[in-house]
Amino acid sequence: MKYYLRKNLKYRENDGGSNSPNVEDAIFRLQGKVLKNIYKLPSNKRITTSLDFGCGQGSTVNFFHQAGYDAYGIDICKGDIEIAKRRYPYIADKFKLCKPDVFKTPLRKFTDNKKISLITGHRSLMYFDKEDFEKLLRNFNNSMTSNGLLYASMLSTKSTYFQIMKKSKFEWLRETVSKKNLNFEYMFFCESKKDVIKKFSIFKKMLIGSYYYQLDENDKITHYYQILCKKK
Ligand SMILES: C[S@@+](CC[C@H](N)C(=O)[O-])C[C@H]1O[C@@H](n2cnc3c(N)ncnc32)[C@H](O)[C@@H]1O
Repeated sequence: MKYYLRKNLKYRENDGGSNSPNVEDAIFRLQGKVLKNIYKLPSNKRITTSLDFGCGQGSTVNFFHQAGYDAYGIDICKGDIEIAKRRYPYIADKFKLCKPDVFKTPLRKFTDNKKISLITGHRSLMYFDKEDFEKLLRNFNNSMTSNGLLYASMLSTKSTYFQIMKKSKFEWLRETVSKKNLNFEYMFFCESKKDVIKKFSIFKKMLIGSYYYQLDENDKITHYYQILCKKK
């Protein structure tokens, strides 16, 4: 496994999980405004399987389950998967631990071999170098139903993290530069909407947008692009 993937795993194992107890705004708006109204999901005729990639502590999976999906989630963080199973015992078997090089494993292995209608990657798809990200997207594509949808929110170069991280030797990826903090992650950032559409170009772009988050004016800025795309 590549060094940066091992480092990302170690970061998650040591520094703990994503600590998101509730489903985020971006996800419930996506379901209410777009998936339900425009795509009529989940279908009332057949099972609609969804997979939340990098599900953390499971709130998105639980939200889709409650909305009527056959919802699954995977993550590399053992602690978060354990929390998700405890928090949502009625769907405990839908949370699966995966390896950082999960792009090598057909994703249907995690959904009891069912084709996936909706894949969500909420703040979780930027932890790969170019080669591995492209493998991951091909894996998504192969695991989906025809007309399958992929939603992703991706950190942008407008975020404070972009400035405090430095270019690494892995294509696209930046790393934290700090002598004190030996636990750090590698991640990449998207420059513009055009860049996001290009990075996801094996899919057909349906919607592209963005959002900012900053709690206090002295706090870090996080800026995400969000894209909804469809299998071609
Ligand atoms: C910023 S957190 C977001 C968690 C959750 N999606 C949310 O929005 O609350 C990123 C998540 O991606 C997971 N992750 C990082 N690298 C991964 C990989 N190679 N495969 C699967 N999950 C990964 C992390 O463990 C973490 O839970």
